[in-house]
Amino acid sequence: ALERTLSIIKPDAVAKNVIGEIYARFEKAGLKVVAAKQKQLSRQEAEGFYAVHKERPFFKALVEFMISGPVMIQVLEGDNAVLKHRELMGATNPKEAAPGTIRADFADSIDANAVHGSDAAETAKVEIAYFFAETEVHSR
Ligand code: CMP
Repeated sequence: ALERTLSIIKPDAVAKNVIGEIYARFEKAGLKVVAAKQKQLSRQEAEGFYAVHKERPFFKALVEFMISGPVMIQVLEGDNAVLKHRELMGATNPKEAAPGTIRADFADSIDANAVHGSDAAETAKVEIAYFFAETEVHSR
């Protein structure tokens, strides 16, 4: 089915200057960038985005990392976009990420793991609405 998913290129990957390399992987896999913005997240925005992880031991470090520099946020659209994007990213822990995935190639640790992607179509709707108005998403 045609789906949308939220993708975030995290501060580590933005600092490595690999936004374009990561976008190329999306495009080669048939995913279209239908909305995008670069943003310095406030603490409040990062905490709100990751609210589901609030009680996890890694929450504070996650928020600190996500506000350590600008992120690149995009909506990807395509057939089976949520799963396709997760396959391109690889496992959350780069040590477990398959060769050739974004995290295997660009991530240094489970905290600085280069990218975020929605885990399901329902989550994607919430995550997209967190950062984009419907008028800012250009389905095509
Ligand atoms: P992300 O997909 O952005 O969602 C939550 C983030 O928390 C995750 O990627 C990791 O970068 C980070 N994180 C740190 N420790 C853990 C952990 N033990 N399990 C899951 N996520 C973790």
